Amino acid sequence: MSKYSTTDNVRPLPVRSPDVFPVHRGKGIIVTGAAGGIGRAIAELLLAEGATVIVADLREDAVAATVKSLGGKSHGVAMDVGSQESIAAGIAASEAALGRIDGLVNCAAIVRHADPLEISWDDWRRQFEINLFGAYEAARLVAKHMIATGTRGAIVSIASEAGKKGHKESLAYSASKAGIISMTRILSEALAAHDINVNCVCPGGVATPMLREVSVAYSGVTSEPPEAIFDKMTSQQLVRHLQPIEVARVVSFLLGDAAMLVRGQAVNADAGETPY
Ligand SMILES: NC(=O)c1ccc[n+]([C@@H]2O[C@H](COP(=O)([O-])OP(=O)(O)OC[C@H]3O[C@@H](n4cnc5c(N)ncnc54)[C@H](O)[C@@H]3O)[C@@H](O)[C@H]2O)c1
Repeated sequence: MSKYSTTDNVRPLPVRSPDVFPVHRGKGIIVTGAAGGIGRAIAELLLAEGATVIVADLREDAVAATVKSLGGKSHGVAMDVGSQESIAAGIAASEAALGRIDGLVNCAAIVRHADPLEISWDDWRRQFEINLFGAYEAARLVAKHMIATGTRGAIVSIASEAGKKGHKESLAYSASKAGIISMTRILSEALAAHDINVNCVCPGGVATPMLREVSVAYSGVTSEPPEAIFDKMTSQQLVRHLQPIEVARVVSFLLGDAAMLVRGQAVNADAGETPY
């Protein structure tokens, strides 16, 4: 057995616990999809790093439960990122609660699986409305607020390795994430003059409710039990599932002043699976 072999190496690499510093002290940051797996981890980390955080998600009860469990300087805003009106109301409520908006994290998304030649119009529409149009609309309104208030902010969207490589089982989802990558590059250029930094993050399979949904959908194709599929969706290099907090740390970096030279990028947070 080679000491560099990844196939023979069954030792999972531990999740690390870096020190947490108040790098976002005094900032107000909105996180959409914050009641979900990755969004909640982002909200929790940003709070620990000193920010006031808007926990934005679809359902009022999930938002309230998340705010209750996070505590600290978190505020809940129920918002449907698939609706332009709801986003406008949600960003206005966030502005009222925060006073000023220094950051936005577009994390809300849905995934639907289908045969690549049988995707319904409705599946295309919903995934694009929620995953891409909603992210654009929130970014647009937040950028306008930042420009009007002279705030040097940052916008980070959660794309996916699916937006680079893509999967035939989730063609429309993959295309919506490729749209996020393109939107990010262009918004970065458009907003640079206002000192607003725009990036996105491309996670690999992260152990969240969404990955469980993916396992159930794949199970319909392969007839393997969902649990077995979920267990296999691990990182080759880490020999375990990626954890939401590990994605959150990348997002936190991109929201911060230390990321000044990283602009318009689609930063992989997939433990080395995607080579570009
Ligand atoms: N889990 C993964 O393996 C993985 C991999 C790559 C990228 N991502 C991306 O990471 C982000 C978070 O995914 P997750 O794994 O935490 O999923 P999740 O399902 O746990 O969380 C998604 C959240 O988005 C919310 N949401 C859905 N539709 C909404 C709407 N219309 N308005 C407001 N909120 C809405 C849901 O209520 C949920 O809380 C997504 O953008 C996803 O595409 C996830």
